[in-house]
Amino acid sequence: MSAFIRNGWYMACWSHEVPEGGFLARRLLDRPWVIWRKADGEMVIMADRCPHRFVPLSRGTRDGDMMRCGYHGLAFDGAGNCAHNPFSGQPLDIAKVEVLPVVEKHTGVWFWPGDADLADPALIPDYSFLDHDKPLHRGTIRMEASYELVTDNLMDLSHAEFIHRDSFGVNGSLLTCGQHEVVQEENGAIWNNWTMPDSDPPVWAVPMLPEGAKTDQWLHMRWNAPSNLALFIGLARSGTDRKDMVVPPMGDPHILTPETATSTHYFYTHEPTPEAHALLEKAFLEEDHPMLHAQQEAMGDGDFWELRPVILPSDAGAIRVRRRMMQLRRAEAGEPVAAE
Ligand code: FES
Ligand SMILES: [Fe+2]
Repeated sequence: MSAFIRNGWYMACWSHEVPEGGFLARRLLDRPWVIWRKADGEMVIMADRCPHRFVPLSRGTRDGDMMRCGYHGLAFDGAGNCAHNPFSGQPLDIAKVEVLPVVEKHTGVWFWPGDADLADPALIPDYSFLDHDKPLHRGTIRMEASYELVTDNLMDLSHAEFIHRDSFGVNGSLLTCGQHEVVQEENGAIWNNWTMPDSDPPVWAVPMLPEGAKTDQWLHMRWNAPSNLALFIGLARSGTDRKDMVVPPMGDPHILTPETATSTHYFYTHEPTPEAHALLEKAFLEEDHPMLHAQQEAMGDGDFWELRPVILPSDAGAIRVRRRMMQLRRAEAGEPVAAE
């Protein structure tokens, strides 16, 4: 069975990562791809392998609305057809490169690696909170851990109380008064919702409040298959029925795309300030990443379920998502799927 769900939308990159007139080479679902934009604005994702002698097309050049192989000069159009053979000056019908369904939406480039007939753009998860013109840093990092381990990490934010005290300034309220529920929507989205009612504010909000003030906090993480997550954060003055907000509600993408079975592209955003950049780099690269990489190393080739993990109540959302991903992979492999 494949490590990856095929019939689903994954994000390949942010739109701005594709250089004008150039291309972006990126490994996605353990295969190399080259991503470029035609003159009419349409995005293309094609296999980064020439069908002639299999060199990466990314060693070649953009030639108008074609990628021209750097080895013997065959050139491929946005549909993956060889539109120019320099030896004959003609197209070469037998030479084709695989291209994937691709849609640009919510400032990202989304691709569908499975059955193209099922690639309905309406299934791209809702990240409309990114559809604005305000300055925003849209970042991409690489984590040396499987997308499932990174998904676990996001679906169980209790780790923040141990890993992120020095960055996000959580202060124990999730452990002492956190309430937790898992909600599944009809469309398949799974939410892991933490609520900390009448709790001490996080460290970063203390200067915004009178001494001793209490707050209602919530951290709602949404998962959409295959591995597209979003965090919705709220902080209100306690006892105001969530109406008197300390800061406006926030939505943050945490979009994961497997690079390989054991590494992940992680797409995120933050306010475009050096302070926000430093905070996120610390949290993701100095705190989460070493732990996740160590976890991946410690698990080796072991299967998560065969290793018989201890399950805590706080794991409920992560486990629900793992089960759902397993069902989707089994269904694609034609294997029996147990009812939920
Ligand atoms: S390897 Fe690409 S044209 Fe020969
Ligand atoms: Fe984290």
